[in-house]
Amino acid sequence: MTALVITGSPRKNGVSSIMTKCFEDLWREASGENQIILIDSYKTAAKPCIHCGECKKKNSCIYNDLDVLDAALKTAGALVVSSPVYVQSFPAPFKAILDRMQRYFEEKYALGVSNPIPKHKRALFMTAQGSQERPLLMEEQLRLSLRLMNATLERSIAVLGTDFREPDFDFIRKEIRLFIDLFTNNPA
Ligand SMILES: Cc1cc2nc3c(=O)[nH]c(=O)nc-3n(C[C@H](O)[C@H](O)[C@H](O)COP(=O)(O)O)c2cc1C
Repeated sequence: MTALVITGSPRKNGVSSIMTKCFEDLWREASGENQIILIDSYKTAAKPCIHCGECKKKNSCIYNDLDVLDAALKTAGALVVSSPVYVQSFPAPFKAILDRMQRYFEEKYALGVSNPIPKHKRALFMTAQGSQERPLLMEEQLRLSLRLMNATLERSIAVLGTDFREPDFDFIRKEIRLFIDLFTNNPA
């Protein structure tokens, strides 16, 4: 099984990057056949959607910087989103990726393709934020994008209060394991 992992933090040793690493280790541990395709939103630096209308006319985008992600969406069975909270939302490079999923909205509603991404994915959403409030706005934003990516949100792990305490990584690992168990117990 392949997991497509999209990350949103510029900090290599930030909390969400550590959570990503925890997921990668546990995913590989769960099965020797498990694979990971990692899209680092800061390294990828996807161009923002400019609403040019190209994807409304044909099944393509004027930019090719998300070709790897587009291909992975069609083969992965798991989708993992790991991001810090910036101004109650996704950091800009990550938001650019979500905006670029508009091509699948147009493929469906303008070009009439009933299911542009046939492969369904189970999704895990992990966030890190300085304050104590759950990132409800981000969950709503992500739900819309997940629909376009043919993914269902199975589990959210929100690490709150990173400004003033160390995250409980044992707890985080347990939560990640519960997500991974979905594939072991019910692989379809
Ligand atoms: C530009 C910027 C905006 C932020 N906005 C928020 C915010 O709206 N709410 C919040 O709780 N924390 C906010 N934070 C704090 C980060 O979410 C927090 O430090 C988090 O742990 C960073 O994730 P990372 O450790 O994975 O890099 C912000 C930090 C930065 C740099």
